[in-house]
Amino acid sequence: MYANLFHKLFFLLPLVYHPTKHGIDTSSGSANSGWNFDEHGLDWEGTCMTGRRQSPIRLSIDSSLIMPLPRIFFGNYDERLNRPLTLVNKGYTVDMAIPETRIGQKPFITGGLLKGKYVAEGVHFHWGSPTTRGAEHIINKRRFDIEMHIVHRNAHYNNISEALNYPDGIAVLGIMLKITRTPDRIYPGLRKVFAELPNVIEYHAEGELPGTITLGQLLGDLNTRNFYTYKGSLTTPDCNEAVTWTVFPQPIPIPYSEAAKLWQVLDVNGNPLENNYRAQQRRNNRPVFYRTINLSNYYLRK
Ligand SMILES: *[C@@H]1O[C@H](CO)[C@@H](O)[C@H](O)[C@H]1NC(C)=O
Ligand SMILES: *[C@@H]1O[C@H](CO)[C@@H](O)[C@H](O)[C@H]1NC(C)=O
Ligand SMILES: [Zn+2]
Repeated sequence: MYANLFHKLFFLLPLVYHPTKHGIDTSSGSANSGWNFDEHGLDWEGTCMTGRRQSPIRLSIDSSLIMPLPRIFFGNYDERLNRPLTLVNKGYTVDMAIPETRIGQKPFITGGLLKGKYVAEGVHFHWGSPTTRGAEHIINKRRFDIEMHIVHRNAHYNNISEALNYPDGIAVLGIMLKITRTPDRIYPGLRKVFAELPNVIEYHAEGELPGTITLGQLLGDLNTRNFYTYKGSLTTPDCNEAVTWTVFPQPIPIPYSEAAKLWQVLDVNGNPLENNYRAQQRRNNRPVFYRTINLSNYYLRK
């Protein structure tokens, strides 16, 4: 009898974790047609509400499988892009499309959990406010100030819209930025992006970064050897479950004065665009892998 009860409970238990429906009726679509960060995405519909591999999620070493995965290989990240980057205010973030490099190919990544090449398509940011932090992934219970996303498309697919339909379509690198009182320096690429922010305050405003950079100049000397990786989704509607996430836990230090420029950016209604991060999503038993070269971590856990 106990066995029977246990059996029933066991199979009923997962119901507890099903997402609860909201009574609120909101229109969904692009930022211009309604969705916003007022509830950090809890009111977004469709896959955003019903999906089972949504992002962001909480990351920690304790809840990860520590694995000697291959490191991320950055292809053409040290080649100059063939034209200046244009920063665009999209109303829900600021975004740059990535052109080809001077040698013809776009930058790309492979390695980690990725099978094959993923071509860099865009860079955008999530941030907080003068009083709050705004990274999306929480790492070891900590939310960093800003999270930069470098979005890549599986080279197997023709474009982002096609790639979004496949579970292996997209790879996003999550890079944490941390406000530091006296950072040694800010990386040249990142400095140019932040210097352009005052020119893209208004929705739809565009600003061209002076000169050309390499995509690697956004990363500087970030330690990319340790990372979390898991299968998830876009963190904005339509929350497509197409993304393999690679999130680096070591932050890039930036000065307060640079972060403050993000808080000036305005949304589609002309209000400050702040806290444009999505709430943490259910893990639903997904494996999260932590890649490390520190073998003492590896053996400690075995
Ligand atoms: C993306 O590729 C698909 C398939 O080749 C094509 O039908 C579609 O028009 C393309 N979309 C864009 C926005 O280029
Ligand atoms: C390696 O991991 C162990 C256990 O977590 C830690 O004590 C040690 O400081 C780490 N070493 C390096 C070089 O990161
Ligand atoms: Zn993002």
